[in-house]
Amino acid sequence: MPDLSAPTRKPATKPTTRPRTRSQGSEPHTDLLAWRAEFPILQRKTYLNSCSLGPLSLRSMAALDRFQDLWNEHGAQAWYEIWMGELAALRAKFAQLIGAQPHEIAIAPSVSAALSEIASGLDLGDRNKVVMADMDFPTLAYQWLAREREGIEVEFVESADKVTLPARRFRTAIDQRTGLVATSRVFYLSGYIQDVAALAEMAHAQGALLLVDDYQATGQIPLDVKAAGIDFLVTGTLKWLMGGQGVAFIYVRDELISRLRPTHTGWWASRDQFQFKTREFSYRDDAQRLEAGTPPMPSIYIASAALDITLDIGVERVRERTRWLADDLARKAHARDWTLRSPLDGAHRSSIVMLEMERPEELVKRLSERGIVVDSRPGLLRISPNFYNTIEETDLVIGALEELLAQRAH
Ligand SMILES: Cc1ncc(COP(=O)(O)O)c(C=O)c1O
Repeated sequence: MPDLSAPTRKPATKPTTRPRTRSQGSEPHTDLLAWRAEFPILQRKTYLNSCSLGPLSLRSMAALDRFQDLWNEHGAQAWYEIWMGELAALRAKFAQLIGAQPHEIAIAPSVSAALSEIASGLDLGDRNKVVMADMDFPTLAYQWLAREREGIEVEFVESADKVTLPARRFRTAIDQRTGLVATSRVFYLSGYIQDVAALAEMAHAQGALLLVDDYQATGQIPLDVKAAGIDFLVTGTLKWLMGGQGVAFIYVRDELISRLRPTHTGWWASRDQFQFKTREFSYRDDAQRLEAGTPPMPSIYIASAALDITLDIGVERVRERTRWLADDLARKAHARDWTLRSPLDGAHRSSIVMLEMERPEELVKRLSERGIVVDSRPGLLRISPNFYNTIEETDLVIGALEELLAQRAH
């Protein structure tokens, strides 16, 4: 792979921290820029914050209008005649996106709720150890830490540089007492892409299962859950899927569905949902046994229309374009001698580019005054372009940052 950091403004002073990026080459998938017209915020802002909240599309706005019209026209009748069908369509679309079957999918209101469904339903028996990464999002850890009083033991695999975590580092932690490996495909803290297929193999070799928190990867990095050997997956529509709040998904591998008996439950999990048997309860046979109560239909409409956009474009194309943009940001940061807190290896780097900066919250505010939307985490500035962003926009954010840092220095 050619080294892209070569044409920088100054000689490479830190060769070991030089990002390995692909040749600038020709810009991939410029046809995707036609989608910019679909997102009103892109007409107003330089929007580089996909890993926090994806932009709202005209399609989703139209879908929300449609939902309101249906509510006005049909009232509760819409449940049976229309909205149940919309829910089924959404499960099927998500299944298509990750290479699953619709009966393996459940809808939840957030990733945290989705995780609680699985954690409350999975009996790990004597294998009471859960292995995770110290780089995982806190909500994933809390599911298991909250169950320590039930005998669950959590072991964290540590990232040496707090950026990367090669799969082999899990090897010693996963043992015969491990019931579950629960970790992210992309770390929210560094954008590092984990090799989940390798983790699945390692977990299965010891008789453990693999749960993937896919929130920072779904819609950004292609996935086939079957090929990767994933047992459980949770994700939501807020970020790279551009579908807003209120909709998350659970994938459960077909063979494992009957093993899950969540105590976090409700009438939507019941096999006889519309027979209203107060004294009897049996779980549905499909993954919808992990659903609990009435879903937020306005959010379902918004999310479902957004999913159509990702399915129309194809996640492979999103990845090719965002990788090019992320490489470009990494190269520009390196040229300025800024410290990249994302993987140096482009193959493991997603479109979450972290820069080590002092007082990043202040920079986020100053950039926002210039119409540039990025994000921060303690000590880190987070820039996350999506397929609709342009090279002019990466120039703009880097140029603005350069000015702000120069002002600080004076
Ligand atoms: C990787 C990851 N997992 C989980 C969450 C939390 O999701 P929710 O708020 O839907 O519970 C986030 C939110 O930023 C996240 O980045």
